[in-house]
Amino acid sequence: MELTALATALASTTVKDYRYFPSIGSTNDEALRWVDSGAPDFSLVVADEQTAGRGRFDRRWVTNPGAALAFSLILHPAPSELASLALFAPLCGLALRETLHRQYGLQPQIKWPNDVLLAGKKTAGILVEAAWLGDKATGIVLGIGINITRAALPPPSARLFPATCLEEHLAAPVDRITLLAHLLNRLAAWRSRLGTPRFFDEWQKHLAFKGQSVRIEDSQKTSIIGIVKGVNPRGDLVLTLANGLEQDFAAGDVHLRPLDPQ
Ligand code: ATP
Ligand code: BTN
Repeated sequence: MELTALATALASTTVKDYRYFPSIGSTNDEALRWVDSGAPDFSLVVADEQTAGRGRFDRRWVTNPGAALAFSLILHPAPSELASLALFAPLCGLALRETLHRQYGLQPQIKWPNDVLLAGKKTAGILVEAAWLGDKATGIVLGIGINITRAALPPPSARLFPATCLEEHLAAPVDRITLLAHLLNRLAAWRSRLGTPRFFDEWQKHLAFKGQSVRIEDSQKTSIIGIVKGVNPRGDLVLTLANGLEQDFAAGDVHLRPLDPQ
């Protein structure tokens, strides 16, 4: 990244401090270390390449040099936010969806619990982690990886879900630094609306696979099929089962797959 352009763009945001790396293992790991050594609220770690990028359950997140936007934002949760830790992944989804819509006219959808899709394919992943002191979260790290160019895409054999990138949906190239600055501003805006009726309304409105049949699978590979009804105030996914009853699923160790992939 061009460092003067990065500094200028970040000056238009509320980022307090930042660290930039041409290459790093994982921006989330660096952010968690920085929390322990006193990073202020709204500090940023951004990298051009990750050699050990992580998804949920330590799955690998591919971040090829210069082809993606990969960053981690550190928040110091206020007491009121601590009760809503499960809502920080959707917060990132809402902020990214809105940025991609406003800046590029795209129509992204939010796949519960942590992905942003374009035309049903994954274009961004979100990994929210907390740093703990005893049972108190001392910091939250919002890790976001966005595929910008085709070079960002992992080989098909390494994909558990269809993948895409912004440039597959746009005629003009995307400037990563401009995207980052806009997204940081939307993250700050949605943080102030965490858990509000507007937050849930927007989430439901842009929830992927709503009204469609999906399979929810746990780590024991037990699966349940149902129709996506929406999300509840805890952030759980609500499915309507074949017998007409509703069942809620917490984000923990469960995965959502459409029954009829497009
Ligand atoms: P879940 O539905 O549980 O979130 P997932 O398939 O989305 O499952 P994650 O753990 O969220 O899996 O994300 C990691 C997975 O994303 C990897 O196992 C790989 O299949 C895929 N992946 C890795 N890098 C990229 C990338 N740059 N773009 C798209 N997909 C990727
Ligand atoms: C997922 O789809 O499971 C989440 C992927 C999250 C990737 C981002 S890239 C920036 C940050 N650093 C990481 O190691 N992971 C997150």
